[in-house]
Amino acid sequence: MAGSAIGLGNIWRFPYMVGEHGGAAFIIVYILATLFLSLPIFLSESILGRRTHLGPFGALAKISPGTKWKYMGLLTIISALIILSFYSVVGGWSVDYFVKSLTLSFSRGGADSVPAVFGSFISKPVAPLVCHTIFLLLTALIVGFGVKKGIELFSKVTLPLLFILIVVILVYSLSLPGSSAGIAYLVKPDFSKITVETVAYAMGQSFFSLSLGVGTILTYSSHISKSENLMASGIGTAASDMGFAMLAGFAVMPAVFAAGIAPGAGPGLIFETLPYIFAKMGEASPVISAVVAILFFLTILVSALTSSISMLETGVSYLEEEKGMRRWSAVGLLFLLTWTLGALCSLSFGPLADVQIFGCTIFELCDKLTANFLMTLGGFLFTIFAGWKLSKDDLRDELSSGGLHRPVAFRLTVFLIRYIAPIVIITIFITNLFL
Ligand code: TRP
Repeated sequence: MAGSAIGLGNIWRFPYMVGEHGGAAFIIVYILATLFLSLPIFLSESILGRRTHLGPFGALAKISPGTKWKYMGLLTIISALIILSFYSVVGGWSVDYFVKSLTLSFSRGGADSVPAVFGSFISKPVAPLVCHTIFLLLTALIVGFGVKKGIELFSKVTLPLLFILIVVILVYSLSLPGSSAGIAYLVKPDFSKITVETVAYAMGQSFFSLSLGVGTILTYSSHISKSENLMASGIGTAASDMGFAMLAGFAVMPAVFAAGIAPGAGPGLIFETLPYIFAKMGEASPVISAVVAILFFLTILVSALTSSISMLETGVSYLEEEKGMRRWSAVGLLFLLTWTLGALCSLSFGPLADVQIFGCTIFELCDKLTANFLMTLGGFLFTIFAGWKLSKDDLRDELSSGGLHRPVAFRLTVFLIRYIAPIVIITIFITNLFL
């Protein structure tokens, strides 16, 4: 679950969200949103998954037999696959940048030419498509080997590595002259920056980062044993996810400030700004900056894979459980579907840029549709199901693992699951609808 949570959301999205929405003030709202909103949704998904030992479709069908609720479960699975499609495009960019760092291309042609490389790369038709294909193939390969021998093994080996790598990059970043301004930006809150928008973005970030609302956590939880402490694994996952986001923030921002760049550089932050920094630092110490560049893009690539496998697994487990398909066949089928949608997303930065639906490119549409609507809808569904379709005794049974341990803050948790989370989610949903 930590592997699913830790990904592009932490290294790519978190730093630029912080940069665009007010630094430390945003971080505080993000932490509060994680504790009081995301964690209850996470627990709802965990409870539904472990109680039924089924994915979203089967879980809802089992809890509400004979109703059509299960089709809402199916919708969450489809949402996970839409996310996989465009996530794999960004994963593909990280494949390309990893190769670029290995072949030392940032140090060629002068630092000032580096940021423009990104725009010209993503607008090409073929190269990003090839990278998207490679990334999705890697994802499919890991998922094909199964939950234990593929997903769990890969995540267990790579997660500690990711933490080590990000700390190495952080140390490098902090050693750069002028980095202290970046630290100040991350720790000194300016509360005047907090607006309704900041709150909405912080919640959205927290949601995305914990992989909520699309049945992924529910699917992973269907494999948790009856004796496992759900609250502990929820808090553990949220803490590692927030911890990793903070480490990534402290690895990226000081370098950005050291290079004299504005923090609100947006989504291009890690693909334009950081290679520029590596190239600039490379003029003084070529070996160190080349090594750090390689480690940095490796970290991005691997963390993206630990997440993409969780999205694919959400669909694969549905086809296995409900349609009786073999794992490799299910993987193959979903590979074809997500590859196709992903290819359209990839081309929407170049040849298909003019294809606009509701004023968005295909990539933006997939991103907005899932982040603003489908994920919130799914989050609502799961809290309602866990909070209201299960009895209080069922909830106590799950949160205490059948009486094995005392459930921590039980009354507060149930209150958050039943009332606060659904009300807040519906408010976000309606706000997004009007915006
Ligand atoms: N949480 C992942 C990240 O931060 C992304 C992710 C994985 C995800 N699975 C998901 C997002 C399911 C939404 C839904 O990069």
